[in-house]
Amino acid sequence: MAQKILVTGDNSHSLMNEEIQETYHSIHGAIEESTHVFLKSGLHLIQEKNISIFELGFGTGLNALITLLEAKKLQLNIQYHSIEKFPVEHYLIKQLNYGSFFNDGDFWFDMIHHCKWNIASQCSSMFELLKIQNDFLQYEPIQQYHLIYFDAFSPDKSPELWSIDSFKKTFNMLMPGGILVTYCAKGIVRRNMEAAGYKVERIPGAPPKKEMLRASKI
Ligand SMILES: C[S@@+](CC[C@H](N)C(=O)[O-])C[C@H]1O[C@@H](n2cnc3c(N)ncnc32)[C@H](O)[C@@H]1O
Repeated sequence: MAQKILVTGDNSHSLMNEEIQETYHSIHGAIEESTHVFLKSGLHLIQEKNISIFELGFGTGLNALITLLEAKKLQLNIQYHSIEKFPVEHYLIKQLNYGSFFNDGDFWFDMIHHCKWNIASQCSSMFELLKIQNDFLQYEPIQQYHLIYFDAFSPDKSPELWSIDSFKKTFNMLMPGGILVTYCAKGIVRRNMEAAGYKVERIPGAPPKKEMLRASKI
């Protein structure tokens, strides 16, 4: 798959998938967007010390990195399962600059990428990682989670992942009271989430985006 590295608005890298002309993160700032959508609007709402997270779309591993670092900072024990259909090639991962934005960031970014696929690994004392190489649509979930990071390519490019059936699958993967967060705020996505059983809120998006969605299983 043809991918190239680009520099986003906060100087952190992202990837462009040239086949579908879609970036892996906001061009306005990859780290800023991931921090806003997944940590501030998701992880910080979970009132537990032992937290399980499922991510749809492991991609570059940026969300895994910021979550591992947040677990250290907030003294959380995190079990992080992330699915990816098309793992990014190692020569590209090695060029990504995410590590340089954090203390010991390069060390932890390497650690995340050295963990084998499909085997749970204790990346740090507070962060267990299972990278699942599979298609989410074919995948048979193995447990329920407190939190889902829904980070698929956009509904225009991957409509099947944003369908009612796909959201029913994520709904069943959440514990009661669990939440799903995504950068997307499209009306059709909100309606599909509601049809799958979620209560959905429109909340402020990562600037300059006005809105994003948070869906709760209540
Ligand atoms: C927006 S990017 C994810 C960015 C990622 N979370 C990060 O931090 O870099 C979407 C990802 O979903 C993956 N993907 C696309 N279709 C998929 C599918 N059916 N099942 C699992 N992953 C899929 C893509 O290969 C891509 O890596």
